[in-house]
Amino acid sequence: MTTKTIIITGGAGFIGSHVVRLFVTKYPGYKIVNLDALTYAGNLENLKDIEMSSNYIFEKVNLLDTEELERIFTQYNPDGVIHLAAESHVDRSILSPLDFVFTNVVGTVNLLNAAKKHWGDDKSTKLFYHVSTDEVYGALGDTGFFTEETPYDPHSPYSASKAASDHFVRAYYDTYELPVVITNCSNNYGPYHFPEKLIPLFINNIINKKPLPVYGDGLYTRDWLFVKDHAIAIDLVFHKGKVGDTYNIGGFNEWRNIDLVKLVCTQMDEKLGRENGESEKLITYVKDRPGHDRRYAIDATKINKELGWKPSVTFEEGLSQTIDWYLQNEEWLKGVTSGAYQHYYEGMYAQR
Ligand code: NAD
Ligand code: DAU
Repeated sequence: MTTKTIIITGGAGFIGSHVVRLFVTKYPGYKIVNLDALTYAGNLENLKDIEMSSNYIFEKVNLLDTEELERIFTQYNPDGVIHLAAESHVDRSILSPLDFVFTNVVGTVNLLNAAKKHWGDDKSTKLFYHVSTDEVYGALGDTGFFTEETPYDPHSPYSASKAASDHFVRAYYDTYELPVVITNCSNNYGPYHFPEKLIPLFINNIINKKPLPVYGDGLYTRDWLFVKDHAIAIDLVFHKGKVGDTYNIGGFNEWRNIDLVKLVCTQMDEKLGRENGESEKLITYVKDRPGHDRRYAIDATKINKELGWKPSVTFEEGLSQTIDWYLQNEEWLKGVTSGAYQHYYEGMYAQR
């Protein structure tokens, strides 16, 4: 059995928890160290089903704590890092940009420094995998796709901080020959998604018959991917990706926000036994997000051709599974929407 020790940062978050689960269950010979500061977005409940696995370890560490990073690298001597920890919500980045600079930029550089120092000259078998976003490429018009060659053009403090972190990762490859790989993925959805993001927020509001705040004209377009398919892509790139390369990951699945919201409403009415059209009445157009990117769409040809990856579920199936999960996990939803969440929600949507 192959053995490896891998540090996964942000493993208590939405995507990170799916990646941790996949690696812990698929690779019993690996030691998986989940490094996470447990911010508002980090939740160990996301990993309840695997937390007792003998190949899983949790370390509550903040990326800004360089001494702790030093300890982690010395203690575990990792073969690889899969870096997902980040501040991830665009609206929060508009309210508080510096938090994004600290975690996404400084935190990433701290992690790169720890890897560089610890791996030294013995790095040929190591890998620093940085998980990034399609938002670094900016906004598309009605046509076209983001490829790996699309120039960076970020517009929000979030995407600017992710772009900066991507540049640092590439700089460490060019300057110090640190073995790195980067993936830029489109919008994820699925179980354990924090209800500040469009899909889980609207599922929660429909359950509670609260308004569905659609920004601007609702014609903004995103390319949606089921989170488990993203985790599978990360597994493939980690094991088979070319060092120094970038891979775009996307769902081949573009939806205008308003059409997506209507689909969520229809599926929810059916599942909740409500009259068809009842949830759509909750749709409320509100003030737009500043700097709102009109359209994102990923060309995922490279990862498809080179590594054979493609999404495994249709959007209708993935959305249906996601809604079922939220309906069956009301306690989880109640837990994450109490306290600080209420404060955020009231502040954010009072301004609109
Ligand atoms: P998330 O907000 O759900 O989780 C982020 C995790 O990082 C949390 O567990 C949090 O506690 C942890 N964290 C935050 N700051 C930290 C710090 N200073 N030190 C240590 N841990 C810290 O995020 P997500 O949606 O799962 O996104 C994960 C990664 O994937 C991010 O890098 C994001 O930019 C990228 N990404 C997300 C999407 C998406 O649709 N959600 C799409 C493409 C790329
Ligand atoms: O594209 C990848 C990115 O997708 C990730 O890098 C980010 O971490 C992730 O948060 C996500 O960013 P978005 O800004 O696209 O996701 P969000 O769910 O916040 O918004 C999706 C769309 O829905 C966007 O056009 C804004 C709109 N929206 C969002 C919210 C929260 C609304 O109309 N109303 C809302 O209340």
